[in-house]
Amino acid sequence: MTFSDSFLDEVRARCDIVDVISRYTSLTKRGSGYVGLCPFHNEKTPSFSVSRDKQFYHCFGCGVGGDVITFIMKIENLDFPDAVAQLAERAGLALPTIDEGSTLAKRRRDRVYAVNKEAARFFHANLHTEGGREALEYLNGRGLTAATQTRFGLGYAPAAWDSLTKEMVKKGFTKNELIDAGLAVTGKNGSIYDRFRNRVMFPIIDVKGQVLGFGGRVMDDSTPKYLNTSDTIVFNKRKNLFALNFAKKTAAPAIILTEGYMDVIALHQAGFDSAVASLGTALTDEQVKLISRYKKSVIIAYDQDGAGIKATQRALELIKPSDLSVKVLRMHDAKDPDEYIKKFGRDRFLRLIDQAESESEYRLSGVRADFDTGSDEGKVSYLKAAIEELAKISSKVEREIYIARIAKDTGVSVDAIAHEVARAQRKDDRKKKRDEENRNLTPVRTHQPKSRAVRFDNPKSAIAEEGVIGTLTLRNDWISAAAEQLAPDEFSSPMLSDIYRIIINQHDAGRDVTPASVLGVLEGDASNHFSGILAREAEPNADALRDYIKIIKTEAAKAGEDALSAAARLYKDKKSYGG
Ligand code: CTP
Ligand code: MN
Repeated sequence: MTFSDSFLDEVRARCDIVDVISRYTSLTKRGSGYVGLCPFHNEKTPSFSVSRDKQFYHCFGCGVGGDVITFIMKIENLDFPDAVAQLAERAGLALPTIDEGSTLAKRRRDRVYAVNKEAARFFHANLHTEGGREALEYLNGRGLTAATQTRFGLGYAPAAWDSLTKEMVKKGFTKNELIDAGLAVTGKNGSIYDRFRNRVMFPIIDVKGQVLGFGGRVMDDSTPKYLNTSDTIVFNKRKNLFALNFAKKTAAPAIILTEGYMDVIALHQAGFDSAVASLGTALTDEQVKLISRYKKSVIIAYDQDGAGIKATQRALELIKPSDLSVKVLRMHDAKDPDEYIKKFGRDRFLRLIDQAESESEYRLSGVRADFDTGSDEGKVSYLKAAIEELAKISSKVEREIYIARIAKDTGVSVDAIAHEVARAQRKDDRKKKRDEENRNLTPVRTHQPKSRAVRFDNPKSAIAEEGVIGTLTLRNDWISAAAEQLAPDEFSSPMLSDIYRIIINQHDAGRDVTPASVLGVLEGDASNHFSGILAREAEPNADALRDYIKIIKTEAAKAGEDALSAAARLYKDKKSYGG
């Protein structure tokens, strides 16, 4: 459901953010706002602030922030429409039944779902035709039973340019609908042709059973090995997990997270019906949220190669702030779960699940594998590295268990190791404190957003860009003048530039620009970051605004010059090589 702006404004107006958040954490008045312990991370001193005037929240500790709707999304693990519905219900507001503006868009989406479903049927039926024989043999050869092939709706896209397109047009779908679905692409002469040709097809199905898109695999060594539907009006690969439609019904306690289609299918066939795949992209926070809507624990079973290990580490970082408990599964003598099951069978895989390691265990055994503890020297290096890892474990109980284990393993006393760990922890604390002090001394150099997904290329300009955004959000009467002097593409940060553009557009459209109106269209990192700007913004000041604009323009001119001189240099080099 899409809601009109006026309905959303009504929801925000009736659901005061201080009242709503007070149900989750206790807030006390301080200055012009409220503070409390952050409900999204563990803390002992309050760094979570809420503003009643500006109707937003921001945590200086973990960096989250947004408006009342994003708060409910995050804390209740709901998507946007469900969060709005919950707030509306609490406020006694009836949900709008039909939203005129959106029926067209909805119809377009429904057509994409429909054509995807028909395409999946077509691909699947091809498996059992003469043209699909090679594909059927390929799937059989990879050990997939007929029942599995049917359950997952596997299929075959013929080797012709337009077999799917022709078939779908016959069924009444238009060329535009095929393009909307990402099933066809436009050629040079304006005609369209099938995107997937001569590939084994894997439909991607959401939790409601709708076909969102496809993955297609070649049957030989050609590249790309897999071709996937790009993002469409119904498919966003960051927000979906392959096979979650089955996995959500599992009786198993944990979701098994793998990299690929074949891993998931092989696992399900072997009875592990909680397997899903993040489909070759790095795990996203939307996917983490999606998992936590169904299960409270997850086992990472990524590939055992370098890329898989990196992806595992990134996934661990991403899962850490969520309420999911996480374990990591290790495989020996097989590169991925598909290969493992084939080589060693389901019982051995079950054992791997039982032996899956907690995050600290995983890190410690990673350290253990790096050293040869046969020699005294190796043992000392191992202990040093292990102590560093142990010092990072915040739970005392967990720490003691691993200290005991390592003591036994190396023959060094528990006391000695515990002593070294305590020392390492004190050192870490001192370093943290020093870093903090340095940060305060040199704000410009280290001014970076909390989220590691966002980096500022030019922190000096970024500070000024934040100043402009914060000021204009509170002083609409200065927007036009600023917009005349400063263009969004003069910003150094794409994220801040987007926010600036939103402010200008809302103002041009005659809307009141407020913290709520801007937060209402921001998501994720941008929302967190913008709430941080608001939380720090002092009284708007015209002189400061003028300085900010000057800094941004100067920095933009510098960057432009750099690009120019680089181009000039390149040109000169070329000339001298060319003779
Ligand atoms: N992937 C992709 N595009 C590629 C390669 C991989 O989208 N060119 C995605 C697919 O979702 C794939 C996953 O990344 O399933 C894992 O890739 P990889 O390990 O290379 O494939 P496997 O799952 O091992 O595939 P197979 O066993 O079929 O070789
Ligand atoms: Mn594989």
